[in-house]
Amino acid sequence: MDITKDIRFVGVNDHDVDLFEGHYIVPEGMAYNSYVICDEKTAVMDSVDCHFSNEWIENVKAVLGDKSPDYFIVQHMEPDHSGSIKTFMETFPDTQIVSSQKAFGMMKNFFEGEEFADRRVIVKEGDTLELGKHVLNFVAAPMVHWPEVIMTYDSTEKVLFSADAFGKFGAHDADDDDWACEARRYYFGIVGKYGIQVQALLKKAATLDIQIICPLHGPVLSENLGYYLDLYNTWSSYDSETKGVVISFTSVYGNTRKAVEMLAQKLEEKGVENVVVNDLARSDMAECVEDGFRYDTQVFATTTFNNDIFPFMKEYIHSLTERNYQNKRVAFIENGSWAPTAAKTMKSMLAGCKNLEYAENEVKIVSALNDDSRAKIEALAEELAAAYK
Ligand code: FEO
Repeated sequence: MDITKDIRFVGVNDHDVDLFEGHYIVPEGMAYNSYVICDEKTAVMDSVDCHFSNEWIENVKAVLGDKSPDYFIVQHMEPDHSGSIKTFMETFPDTQIVSSQKAFGMMKNFFEGEEFADRRVIVKEGDTLELGKHVLNFVAAPMVHWPEVIMTYDSTEKVLFSADAFGKFGAHDADDDDWACEARRYYFGIVGKYGIQVQALLKKAATLDIQIICPLHGPVLSENLGYYLDLYNTWSSYDSETKGVVISFTSVYGNTRKAVEMLAQKLEEKGVENVVVNDLARSDMAECVEDGFRYDTQVFATTTFNNDIFPFMKEYIHSLTERNYQNKRVAFIENGSWAPTAAKTMKSMLAGCKNLEYAENEVKIVSALNDDSRAKIEALAEELAAAYK
């Protein structure tokens, strides 16, 4: 596939992966992207997961024929991209490998001491590499989302090779037209903790004339780039993308669920346009985390359990706070049969989060709904809905 006249796609699709990064379900598979830049000198951009070494190298050979690549540029050392480095270096013994100092340190650890000392070119922010008419400019992008990451801006064709940034779950033949859906789940799951670093990257990107973004996952982006950059700005600044209420809950015997369903119905009746209900025990946690960051209001509903809170809620709140959850309006529904303390526990877990606005109304259920708790749900719905009028 041609990206431009000189840049070819040589990546692969993975439909066999069970959990991406040992963590994320990817029902539409995963793409590991790689590119070849053809000029007087040629450069291969990144490798792929080790299960696809042969397919990828055949793709590279299909572009270059008998020619050996001059440069192999490694932007990121996570194994979904670095897994075929050794095979590549053995296949092309004359190719020089270009990467950051930190990346070579990681190669040494991943590859039993091998850091390609006699074939390596170490680059840092601001360094350039001329291939002929193409000039590659290296951009440091630490913690987007590992510390060694460099991105590469081809100032000739105005292409940003963006490593993991602007990537998404799903192979290239995935049946999903909505880029943002799986890009958002990918972003908050994998990069979400590093909003400050993504903001720093976006500031650098704003100084470049970018016509095409070539990420390491998902489609090449070549139209309407403002849309993708704006979303990344929203996500990385922890602004809410969508006005609406996400109700995240766990329920042991269905009583907390009844409260949640009643609240959702009342919010809708009162005109709240987006009301999303997530059962944390039965949903993909990464999808729930994505929604937690997406909507401007969140209701947490759970039970007291082992003098703590129900495990799925505990995992959920931890997943939010470790990703710097902030800038939201939050409310609580708690349930407990003899000593309800779930709201207190949830609040203590969220105590370190910046700029959370706590709803005045809180719902306490003792075992099952009654007139008091129903009245509290009504009051909470009224309070939350008022913000959208
Ligand atoms: Fe796609 Fe951070 O690896």
